[in-house]
Amino acid sequence: MKAIVYKQYGSVDVLELKEVEKPLAKDHEILIKVHAAEVTKTDCEMRSFDFQVKWFWLPLRLAVGLFRPQRQILGGYFSGEVESAGKAVSRFKAGDQVFGTTKMRASAYGEYLCLPARSVLVTKPRNMSFAEAAAVPLGGLNALHFMRKANIQRGEKVLINGAGGSIGSFAVQIAKSMGAEVTAVDKTIKEDVIRRSGADHFVDYTRRDFAKSGKTYDVVFDMVANGSYSDCTKVLNPHGRYLLGNPRISDMLRSVLTTAFTDKVATFSFAGEQEKELIALKEMIEAGTITVIVDKVYSFEHVAEAHRRVEREQRLGAIVLAADHDSEKV
Ligand SMILES: NC(=O)c1ccc[n+]([C@@H]2O[C@H](COP(=O)([O-])OP(=O)(O)OC[C@H]3O[C@@H](n4cnc5c(N)ncnc54)[C@H](OP(=O)(O)O)[C@@H]3O)[C@@H](O)[C@H]2O)c1
Repeated sequence: MKAIVYKQYGSVDVLELKEVEKPLAKDHEILIKVHAAEVTKTDCEMRSFDFQVKWFWLPLRLAVGLFRPQRQILGGYFSGEVESAGKAVSRFKAGDQVFGTTKMRASAYGEYLCLPARSVLVTKPRNMSFAEAAAVPLGGLNALHFMRKANIQRGEKVLINGAGGSIGSFAVQIAKSMGAEVTAVDKTIKEDVIRRSGADHFVDYTRRDFAKSGKTYDVVFDMVANGSYSDCTKVLNPHGRYLLGNPRISDMLRSVLTTAFTDKVATFSFAGEQEKELIALKEMIEAGTITVIVDKVYSFEHVAEAHRRVEREQRLGAIVLAADHDSEKV
């Protein structure tokens, strides 16, 4: 089968289109014919091993390969079709259209993917293409995790910093579905796409500082790696909640102090990415409550271009890689 392989960490030039062995499903596994995979900021970070937040460089490097990547095919979020299921699998059958996350296994930048049947895998929303469905799990699962953690009440004011990213764009929609009045912060080129996601207000961070506007919020969700902790807590109302999606170590320590000694709550966490959350997202998509905007679909041959578009933040929506075998399905 064809796959995008990287044998060393580095620039987009390390990505190579190769012929590799097709995986075989064991008894408790399923073989998926991948149709589409989202190209995420995390994929770019794993490829270059250059993270916006530096503290997890060493633990992550030890986990995924100190000198070179142990898993040489990137891609954590995908959609496709079950090709075959192992003898012990009753959950899925050949032909089922699915979407999900491979978590740390990656490997979705290939034509086929083998996963344990108990993976976070759900039948694809019937009102989405494969490209759209592949762009849901990262942003949707992470945003749902944080928006539920925020315990948003109807009518509350929510500020989302970094609203034009994969996670932020879902956070806008989910907060709106919870009845919030949403202010989205990002830069000008993303205003249209963010407003289409349902944001009530937009702040262009290159021109205005939300912390100096005099406006305050019940919830601040910050996906910006180097966002200002003080600015985010300063604009919180009493009993407001500050959620850090991309925290530095100093922010984590400060969050403990904020929660212990003020009337505000600051929390950081990493989304568990659970199947029941993916089911909830599928239901919201089928009910028309949330959707996804795909910016561009690239073939395997143009993977370098896809990574550049994500890294340079030129994307206006999700970037998706279509598997070569039948790109017309995507
Ligand atoms: N906590 C968790 O569980 C978790 C899970 C998955 C991923 N992550 C981390 O989250 C990041 C990926 O999230 P994502 O895919 O949503 O990120 P993303 O797509 O990079 O989105 C970040 C957005 O913030 C904007 N931005 C940059 N600087 C800003 C500023 N000062 N003020 C306001 N907006 C600003 C960016 O646009 P411009 O750069 O064009 O301005 C971009 O639209 C990765 O770094 C990953 O490591 C965390």
